Amino acid sequence: MGLKSLLTLICILNFHSLQAFADDTPNESNLETYIVQVEVSESKDLESWYKSFLPTITSSDRMIYSYRTVFKGFAARLSPIEVNAMEHIDGFISARPARKLPLHTTHTPNFMGLNQNIGFWKDSNFGKGVIIGVLDTGIFPNHPSFSDEGMPPPPAKWKGRCDFNGTSCNNKLIGARDFVIPNAIPVDDDGHGTHTASTAAGNFVKDANVFGNANGTASGIAPLAHLAIYRVCSFFCFDSDILAAMDAAIDDGVDILSISIGGVEFNFYDDAMALGAFSAMEKGILVSTAAGNSGPSNFSLSNEAPWMLTVGASTIDRKIRATAVLGNNEQFDGESLFQPMDFSNTLLPLVYSGMLNTSDPGLRFCRSSSLNKTDVRGKIVVCELGGSITIEKGRAVKNAGGAAMIIINGESFGNLTLSEAHVLPATHVTYADGLKIKAYINSTATPMATISFKGTIIGDNRAPVVAAFSSRGPNWASRGILKPDILGPGVNILAAWPVSVENNTNTNSTFNIISGTSMSCPHLSGVAALLKSAHPDWSPAAIKSAIMTTADVVNLAQNPIEDERFLPANIFATGSGHVNPSRANDPGLVYDIQSKDYIPYLCGLNYTNRQVGLFLQRRVNCSVESSIPEAQLNYPSFALTFGTFQSTIQTYTRTVTNVGEPNSSYVVEIVPPPGIDVIVEPAKLDFVELKQTLQYKVTFSRLVSASNIGFVQGFLRWSSSKHSVRSPIAVILR
Ligand SMILES: *[C@@H]1O[C@H](CO)[C@@H](O)[C@H](O)[C@H]1NC(C)=O
Ligand SMILES: *[C@@H]1O[C@H](CO)[C@@H](O)[C@H](O)[C@H]1NC(C)=O
Ligand SMILES: *[C@@H]1O[C@H](CO)[C@@H](O)[C@H](O)[C@H]1NC(C)=O
Ligand SMILES: *[C@@H]1O[C@H](CO)[C@@H](O)[C@H](O)[C@H]1NC(C)=O
Ligand SMILES: *[C@@H]1O[C@H](CO)[C@@H](O)[C@H](O)[C@H]1NC(C)=O
Ligand SMILES: *[C@@H]1O[C@H](CO)[C@@H](O)[C@H](O)[C@H]1NC(C)=O
Ligand SMILES: *[C@@H]1O[C@H](CO)[C@@H](O)[C@H](O)[C@H]1NC(C)=O
Ligand SMILES: *[C@@H]1O[C@H](CO)[C@@H](O)[C@H](O)[C@H]1NC(C)=O
Ligand SMILES: *[C@@H]1O[C@H](CO)[C@@H](O)[C@H](O)[C@H]1NC(C)=O
Ligand SMILES: *[C@@H]1O[C@H](CO)[C@@H](O)[C@H](O)[C@H]1NC(C)=O
Ligand SMILES: *[C@@H]1O[C@H](CO)[C@@H](O)[C@H](O)[C@H]1NC(C)=O
Ligand SMILES: *[C@@H]1O[C@H](CO)[C@@H](O)[C@H](O)[C@H]1NC(C)=O
Repeated sequence: MGLKSLLTLICILNFHSLQAFADDTPNESNLETYIVQVEVSESKDLESWYKSFLPTITSSDRMIYSYRTVFKGFAARLSPIEVNAMEHIDGFISARPARKLPLHTTHTPNFMGLNQNIGFWKDSNFGKGVIIGVLDTGIFPNHPSFSDEGMPPPPAKWKGRCDFNGTSCNNKLIGARDFVIPNAIPVDDDGHGTHTASTAAGNFVKDANVFGNANGTASGIAPLAHLAIYRVCSFFCFDSDILAAMDAAIDDGVDILSISIGGVEFNFYDDAMALGAFSAMEKGILVSTAAGNSGPSNFSLSNEAPWMLTVGASTIDRKIRATAVLGNNEQFDGESLFQPMDFSNTLLPLVYSGMLNTSDPGLRFCRSSSLNKTDVRGKIVVCELGGSITIEKGRAVKNAGGAAMIIINGESFGNLTLSEAHVLPATHVTYADGLKIKAYINSTATPMATISFKGTIIGDNRAPVVAAFSSRGPNWASRGILKPDILGPGVNILAAWPVSVENNTNTNSTFNIISGTSMSCPHLSGVAALLKSAHPDWSPAAIKSAIMTTADVVNLAQNPIEDERFLPANIFATGSGHVNPSRANDPGLVYDIQSKDYIPYLCGLNYTNRQVGLFLQRRVNCSVESSIPEAQLNYPSFALTFGTFQSTIQTYTRTVTNVGEPNSSYVVEIVPPPGIDVIVEPAKLDFVELKQTLQYKVTFSRLVSASNIGFVQGFLRWSSSKHSVRSPIAVILR
């Protein structure tokens, strides 16, 4: 599923233009769901105001949602003619068809430095009292990860409901609703939602493993937080349903929203998730989102708004090793979750699917039906990653009689390998190793190979490595905000799954290992819940700041975090770095942002008054409000652009709030991006009390000598005797 969502996210880019419909009399076949935005009405109640835009005869059965909290407007089934008619009604702003968006553990808490009996995990009460709302494919409720053993009842503010019949809801799973089929039971028929929910807040489950691998005690990052489930996706997710779910979640009283979904949008006012997240942020709810699975291309992000936490994906230090052994004794370490004990180490004939029929270029992906039984029976088949879901490749090879499969990366996937629940003996190797395997096949008339299964190995000190698929900046919608914000574990993540991938019908304790930024997002939702539990008064921006300024920029071997090529990762891949929950709990200083601070930011994006009004849900006049350049928002990182003809000096101010010791002083350290001069004034900040705020000014200038173009990066860091508060600086030189 991790890779499945990767592929759907790539496909969705071609999906953007929805067909125009022939104007005709409305009937069931030409009705489509539209999201309609209208102005705020001072005189009428919402329901009748919204209905006044609909054709009078049919108004009641056409309305799908009337949004209350997140958005002024509604979703309705309409014909193109009816939409045209609506455009002439006073107070109408816009109507567009609902968009489809794609969906983008045992060991990860320890990997993130959370240990069961000591330190921050215990001090933060494991997220006790915090409610995480998960918008996803629903949930499989009877899994031990959602047991409420040791769970207190939900806090009194909880107003949500549970649409499961019987006893499925409990003090862990406090709410469950379906927005795909209204009022249905939100059962997860996919697995994605069960996996993400248990990653954020699953309870402890002993002896969790898949095929015996990755065995250990599984737990979410905030195992004492409550879960409220909003089913908004089956295979696709419609933004009209997502908006309705956000509307409900805000009213229900969630503290954190975890949304592993996203498309590509160039203007925040046109992006339902960005609009909904703005309202959530105004209510003090932190919205954690997936950065997207469209890496390693530049400019490939989803969820770029500064009021969201945008999470990229990286590896953990666990491998489930399967080594390809060739007839010439070369060995290549790869990964597979399925590790059959009975696979013989006798060498078998080896074929590369891409050379079986050179007039069929798709064959190299081993798509079902394309493989010829005569060619592959009894052999080990080499297949390239991409073109279809990896598990499906295995099915195709198995159906054609193949004995085993070696998946090789295309160049862009580099050294990233995935442990998946293949249906036959298999391994997944790197791009470089794939080239060597292909060269070996070319070099001999009788290529042979086998696969040697070595089980779970912990201690890869190269981790965390940025996942090849993790989407990269720069930020399209707002060049002056650095995204992604943070990296979290998103490769080969073990978490709850509705069915047994081993076909074991004897247990409900079923798990699967999948990959994607969909998996890293709920890790950060869990961390945010821990911080919210430990610091109930922190705003969403303060929680984000604490996470970002304390992030790790080195891997377990203390070298700079690398990308899929094993080269130092660029700042548009890592954002602030890899989350370090214990340090985030005690950041010293935070860069806070109040909701009103976003008004001058939005005006500064040159949005019209009406567009800015959509966020605030009231009339806004940008000539009266102040307006700021994007990089002046009090963000915990910096993103600047210097063009040849643009001003060569840019000055911004930042305000930091003391959340460390009352009496503390901080000095600044600057590592300027090459070709950029950075001056900070003052260079020392002296605090005398908690919650005290101080300002500093930072001036960036492009050095006359700088003739290079491209990306450069650096950072500035405020350090006291106890704390280190780091802000990365990304610069695009044009
Ligand atoms: C419904 O509308 C579609 C598209 O405009 C048209 O092709 C079809 O004939 C209409 N059907 C009826 C029953 O009017
Ligand atoms: C309860 O839900 C299950 C599906 O989870 C369904 O099969 C059953 O019919 C439902 N029972 C009632 C009484 O609604
Ligand atoms: C998992 O670990 C537990 C505790 O160490 C052990 O009892 C159990 O047999 C292990 N399960 C597997 C499948 O290895
Ligand atoms: C992204 O842009 C940088 C700087 O221009 C370039 O070096 C890099 O190759 C690009 N990456 C990809 C995947 O295109
Ligand atoms: C090779 O592929 C081409 C194109 O798909 C197909 O027409 C042809 O029949 C294939 N040849 C064999 C021997 O399968
Ligand atoms: C499979 O390959 C064999 C030998 O290359 C060929 O004779 C046969 O026609 C192929 N079958 C199909 C269905 O393409
Ligand atoms: C293997 O041989 C084929 C055909 O001669 C050639 O196209 C390909 O580049 C070779 N591959 C490698 C890895 O040497
Ligand atoms: C599970 O059952 C399916 C359907 O019978 C089968 O195709 C698959 O190979 C089985 N998986 C395992 C791991 O036994
Ligand atoms: C799985 O959960 C259901 C519902 O709680 C229960 O009826 C069933 O007995 C469980 N199955 C096993 C094997 O524990
Ligand atoms: C990592 O990837 C790069 C680029 O594909 C390759 O040159 C290098 O050999 C790989 N390293 C390892 C250890 O596989
Ligand atoms: C907004 O307009 C101003 C004035 O034309 C310009 O300087 C600024 O770069 C624009 N901002 C954005 C984000 O396009
Ligand atoms: C916005 O404010 C300016 C300056 O006060 C004023 O001239 C303008 O008419 C106002 N625009 C609207 C739409 O109210």
